[in-house]
Amino acid sequence: MSQNFEILLLPGDGIGKEISREAEKLLNWINYNTEFKFSIIYDFIGGESIDKFNTPIRDETLNLAKRADAILLGAVGGTKWENIPFEIRPERGLLKIRKELDLFANFRPAVIFDSLIDSSSLKPEIIQSLDILIIRELTGGIYFGEPRGIEILPNNQKKGFNTLTYTTSEIERIANVAFQVANKRNKMLCSVDKANVLESTALWREVVSSVGKKFPDIQLTHMYVDNAAMQLVRNPKQFDVIVTTNMFGDILSDCASMLTGSLGMLPSASIKATEKNERLGLYEPVHGSAPDISGKKIANPIAMLLSVGMMMEYSFNSKEINLLLKKAINNVLKNGNSTIDIQKKGDKILNTEQMGDEIIKQLDKLKNE
Ligand code: IPM
Ligand code: MG
Repeated sequence: MSQNFEILLLPGDGIGKEISREAEKLLNWINYNTEFKFSIIYDFIGGESIDKFNTPIRDETLNLAKRADAILLGAVGGTKWENIPFEIRPERGLLKIRKELDLFANFRPAVIFDSLIDSSSLKPEIIQSLDILIIRELTGGIYFGEPRGIEILPNNQKKGFNTLTYTTSEIERIANVAFQVANKRNKMLCSVDKANVLESTALWREVVSSVGKKFPDIQLTHMYVDNAAMQLVRNPKQFDVIVTTNMFGDILSDCASMLTGSLGMLPSASIKATEKNERLGLYEPVHGSAPDISGKKIANPIAMLLSVGMMMEYSFNSKEINLLLKKAINNVLKNGNSTIDIQKKGDKILNTEQMGDEIIKQLDKLKNE
């Protein structure tokens, strides 16, 4: 029996558009070759939405997102919108959709593809078979804490301020997700905070430990974020699942992505993990809109395609399609194909479209095997 689902595609800005075209190809492939049937609706977010409607995201778009079975997003932002007021910056569109949909659990897997071992700046033995998962709290912390702003002091100096807040329940729900995920993996969870300096993350540590009592089989460790950044580069394989705050997760996931060779390889899933509506999820690459290469058609589409893979697994329960996709990508890379960000000596350099086509060809081949 075929199943019909609606995907909201928000290509956004910069390379977001270019990589979204490749995601469409993959969705079409899935439509033709599996029992899943997707219809795609398109809308605007970020700078493009500012240009058209004077807001980084419209209520109409948020409503489409709430109604959709899953959301795919390219990237937001660009130099053009860097000097406009904070409240209407492109990034606010992304933050608003995360917050309004309550997508509090952000999964950022850093997995190395064998053929990219030499693309990483680290030694092969440090990263070989690396497979870690960063779970980032996505709707709280300093990104959303009040008060925030820039004010003028009586002496005419300016003061900028943001607030790092976490409540017990915000920490509990992300900790629960992290322990459950760790339970299905290697039963190791490292919680990252700055409990020696910041009260809100001392509370983080306390609450994560207390949730941990429900999961006696999981080996829970705590680490300060500065140490975690160092350990990620020194010996990343000591980690399996990491759970951390919004801002620390933002920083550590960029760091982790480079272990795998390129920021262009990392997908992410942002989920509202309730028991009732497990399917609500937004999928996007970890990288941004890359204004420096946008329009050149050379961006690596793999993070975006892997985001579609995560969507298949997390929203539609099809681990098989995600596995098949990862296998296809691995084969394409193994055969000596690259985009510029992951090129090695002797590789054939493909542009965005060619890389997408090559992966589709591999999928066809694997399917017929
Ligand atoms: C990310 C990005 C965003 C963030 C920006 C674009 C708002 O860096 O998803 O990691 O900081 O969360
Ligand atoms: Mg980031």
